[in-house]
Amino acid sequence: GDKWILMATAQTPTNIAVIKYWGKRDENLILPVNDSISVTLDPDHLCTTTTVAVSPSFDQDRMWLNGKEISLSGGRYQNCLREIRSRACDVEDKEKGIKIEKKDWEKLHLHIASYNNFPTAAGLASSAAGFACLVFSLAKLMNLKENQSQLSAIARQGSGSACRSLFGGFVKWIMGKEDNGSDSLAVQLVDEEHWNELVIIIAVVSSRQKETSSTSGMRESVQTSLLLQHRAKEIVPKRVVQMEKAIQNRDFPSFAQLTCADSNQFHAVCLDSSPPIFYMNDTSHRIISYVEKWNRSEGSPQVAYTFDAGPNAVLIARNRKVAAQLLQKLLFFFPPNSDTDLNSYVLGDNSILQ
Ligand code: PMV
Repeated sequence: GDKWILMATAQTPTNIAVIKYWGKRDENLILPVNDSISVTLDPDHLCTTTTVAVSPSFDQDRMWLNGKEISLSGGRYQNCLREIRSRACDVEDKEKGIKIEKKDWEKLHLHIASYNNFPTAAGLASSAAGFACLVFSLAKLMNLKENQSQLSAIARQGSGSACRSLFGGFVKWIMGKEDNGSDSLAVQLVDEEHWNELVIIIAVVSSRQKETSSTSGMRESVQTSLLLQHRAKEIVPKRVVQMEKAIQNRDFPSFAQLTCADSNQFHAVCLDSSPPIFYMNDTSHRIISYVEKWNRSEGSPQVAYTFDAGPNAVLIARNRKVAAQLLQKLLFFFPPNSDTDLNSYVLGDNSILQ
């Protein structure tokens, strides 16, 4: 009969780039102008949980984000759904007496319910976890045979940074050479156990939504910034090699130096675009100065900072002891609800507060 429903659920954390993706060479397929490297957060914090369902009684594809229905008509959703449907396989649930054949998926409709465990409007990357989770849960439901790297190339078409959230640990998004994007995908460099001393603290400087979306910001930079051309051709290829080595060796001084330099260069590219794009604010700049001074006074880096398309600071401490010190210092120098607009913290590891 028409009464059955089949579901799958997945949970995917967001990721933070330490070598930034900034600039597309193909906007429709989302192909980048350089490789990037990120660290995936642990799944307890900043993650998306998505349940997907299929039933013959659904008459159209529908999606809800945090309980509110959103449109699936955008090109990015359509590209992901089309790519997944074309790879769907036979599914059989003997207990429920359900059998879906490969060809049936073209006619069947999907319902998708997605939740972020953090405020969507907090200016914290949500599209990365969101599209990765959408692709992963659908792949489960529809019995795709593709491996995680191949799935990452589908998630990439939802949001570039999403391709890196298909893996834990440190992940590289290889830009690829092909015009069709088949080799622009993510690979895991090391798993989450490799460098588990690191603690990530996110200082929410402002929870307002960013003024320039990453899509229009990248377009502007690609069209107008000569620094972006230089960065993509000359700087990032060398930096990616150095970063991979630093990660393999758990070499925190090199890791911190490369991470901070790359964040600063990304924001320099934004400033070099016309009209210039400002993602960081005075509080962001004060946090940078503060960390730089502290690192210098210690003789070697203890904390790395990196900023995405917004003013919030992502701080990576070399270990728990440093993270606890950092948190105390942040609360002292940037007290919540003071004249700065720094107002809350999301911790990589809540237990350091104890
Ligand atoms: O994938 P998007 O369109 O959200 O772009 C992400 C861009 C940065 O976060 C600034 C850098 C990165 O590599 O994640």
